[in-house]
This record gives sequence, C-alpha cells and structure tokens, in this order.
Amino acid sequence: MISYRIALIPGDGIGAEVLPPAQAVLTAVGRRHGIEFTYDAFDWSCERYLAEGAMMPADGLDRIRRHDAVLLGAVGWPGVPDHVSLWGLLIPIRRGFRQYVNLRPVKVLDGVPSPLRGAGDVDLVVVRENVEGEYSEIGGRLGRGTEDELAVQEAVFTRKGVTRVVEYAYALAGERGHHVTSATKSNGIVHTMPFWDELVEEVARRHQGVRTDKEHIDALAAKLVLAPERFDVIVASNLFGDILSDLAAAVAGSIGVAPAANLNPEREFPSMFEPVHGSAPDIAGQGKANPLGALWSAAMMLAHLGHPEASEELLAAAFGALADGVSTADLGGTADTAGYTRAVLGRVG
Ligand code: NAD
Ligand code: IPM
Ligand code: MN
Repeated sequence: MISYRIALIPGDGIGAEVLPPAQAVLTAVGRRHGIEFTYDAFDWSCERYLAEGAMMPADGLDRIRRHDAVLLGAVGWPGVPDHVSLWGLLIPIRRGFRQYVNLRPVKVLDGVPSPLRGAGDVDLVVVRENVEGEYSEIGGRLGRGTEDELAVQEAVFTRKGVTRVVEYAYALAGERGHHVTSATKSNGIVHTMPFWDELVEEVARRHQGVRTDKEHIDALAAKLVLAPERFDVIVASNLFGDILSDLAAAVAGSIGVAPAANLNPEREFPSMFEPVHGSAPDIAGQGKANPLGALWSAAMMLAHLGHPEASEELLAAAFGALADGVSTADLGGTADTAGYTRAVLGRVG
C-alpha cells in the first residue's frame, strides 16, 4: 500500500460541494491500485476571512509545504472583494510553491453536447503561465474620487519565467500532436508581448519537430470557437491563458468539466489540483454543481503522483457515466452532484 497526504482546501461555495465527490472517487480507485489517501482539511475561505481577518494563517504555506499535493475547491464569495480573497489564498499558493505551469486540458466528451454547431474532435491543452505576467501587485491608484483619478497596473514578464513555461509547452507538444500555438498581442502591447514572441521563437528553435503558430489573442479566441479541433497545445500568459481556458471549456460543453493542475515541475513544493471554475454563488447550496472538473483534477493528481493507470481508470469512470447519459444540469442532464457521483462510483470496478 502506498500512501499520500493531501492538503484539502474546499474554500467557498461549490468548492466544498465538488471535493467530497473527488475524495470518494479517489478512495474507490485508490483501493483497486493499492493507493491510500489521508487528508488534512483546512478551512481557509471567505468565511474565515470575515471571522478572523485573513483567508489563511500567516504560516499557511508552511502548514501544507510537506504534503504530497494540494486539492482545492474554489475561492471567492460575495462580501469579500475578489482581489482580496484570491490574493489572500489561491495566488500565494501558486506563487509560493512556484507552480508556474497551469495545465488545463479540454476535450469534447461522449454524451456532452457542445453549444457549437458541428464542433469536431476537440483535444487540446492550455498551458497557462501561472505566477507572473498580467497578475501583479505593481501599480497603484491616484486621486481617488477626483475627476483625474487613475489606476496603473504593471505586467511582469521575465526571461526565466516565460522560457520555462514555454519549454514545458513544447515538451508536452512533443508527446502529443507536435503543434504549439502561442497566444500573443504584440500588435497592440509594445513591450511585454514582443518579448514573449522572441522568447517563444528561441524555444521553438530548440524543438524543430514541433510546428509553431503565433496568433493574436483576439483572432485566437475566434478560431477557438470556429475550429477548436485544430489546436493541440496553446501556450499563453497568465491572463490570456485564464480567459482561453474558460472559453475552450465552454466550447467543449461547460466550464464545470474543466480541470487544472498547478504544477511545480521541479517538485521542490507540492503541486495543486483544482477545477477551473469558481465558487458559483448562483448555484451554491442547491446540489447542482458538476463535480467533473474536480474529479478530472483528481485524476491529474494521480498522474502527477506517478499513477497513470489509476488516473486513466478514474477518467474512464467519469467520462463513462456521461456516455451512459448521466450528467448534471450544466450539461443538459437531470442528475444532481450526488447522482452523477454515484454513477461514476458505480463504474469504478
Ligand atoms: P464561476 O466559475 O464561479 O461561475 C461562472 C458560471 O459557471 C456560473 O453561472 C456558475 O453557476 C457556472 N458554473 C461554474 N462551475 C460550475 C459547476 N461545477 N457546475 C455547474 N455550473 C458551474 O465564475 P464567477 O461567477 O466569475 O466567479 C464566482 C466566484 O468564484 C468569484 O469570487 C471568483 O473570483 C471566484 N473564482 C474562483 C476561482 C478559483 O478558485 N480557482 C476560479 C474562478 C472564479
Ligand atoms: C482561475 C481563476 C483565478 C485566476 C481568479 C479567481 C484569480 O479565474 O483559477 O482561473 O484568474 O487565476
Ligand atoms: Mn479563471
């Protein structure tokens, strides 16, 4: 029996509704593969912020530093400004643990109707830069409330930071469809994006077997809608990757199915697995949340921990339930969170 200690951070809203299904399915799949999970749960959330003035304790990262992985639900709730909750919990983990790759696969699944007419076989991965770029605390606001009020927000792109995530994307493409699309905006953004393009070209020269396309983010958004099956690996800055991953997931059916792996490829720190979606206050507490994004994230965790077969088995059960016609309302089905989870568990041997 091999055993892993997982830091569990349900967070807010449906975050707390999609993690129990992920734990149940991990237990069932793990049992068949001699893998055991023990969980330490942390109540870090907006509720904690309102009660104690901080999303997590000051030594929060130290408390989860030794875990094998972090499983997170979602962060953010009305009543706490989103930039306060996210910069108080999710973003410090990504940065503190150098999780500079945010891997977000998207597939059209059997039994899941795409909202697009005739969407073909979509099987792509967004490789999102996860610790720098447009997400930065550098900037400020002047003249609050005056007619001349202004806000400045800096974006930070470093040679090391861009090169390492682009290298990751090319290595991944080398194992998949040998095609990288770089999301840029070097026609309108005059410093950071031309730099991004140059660094992508440098990396591309080291990977001659991989075809490179450079697309401006606006045109790329349109092509993702018109011909999503043409993409293999899309590499993008933090903000562009954020937007593209919701867009691509919706093209494939729903953002409720989309998973994410926040990876520290060097394994100096734990990596973090979480669905792409947020806390969904509009459906929280109603049993409507689709847990597939969390289940798929758990499968990515299994693969990261060195159990590709168990990971495949988890995915086969989750996708198989959909193919059998069991799905939640976001996918047009009638199952609730628990009903879909039962169908998945029923398919795990
Ligand atoms: P959201 O992803 O929470 O919701 C967008 C829409 O998708 C809503 O209509 C919601 O009902 C639906 N949806 C999302 N997940 C679903 C699921 N699993 N099943 C069915 N439907 C689902 O995005 P938002 O409304 O922009 O954000 C709400 C809060 O979540 C905000 O505080 C935001 O900052 C936060 N957020 C957190 C994360 C994260 O923790 N990684 C990600 C995105 C948003
Ligand atoms: C995500 C979320 C976060 C992000 C927000 C909530 C800060 O949208 O994980 O995709 O932009 O990274
Ligand atoms: Mn997002």
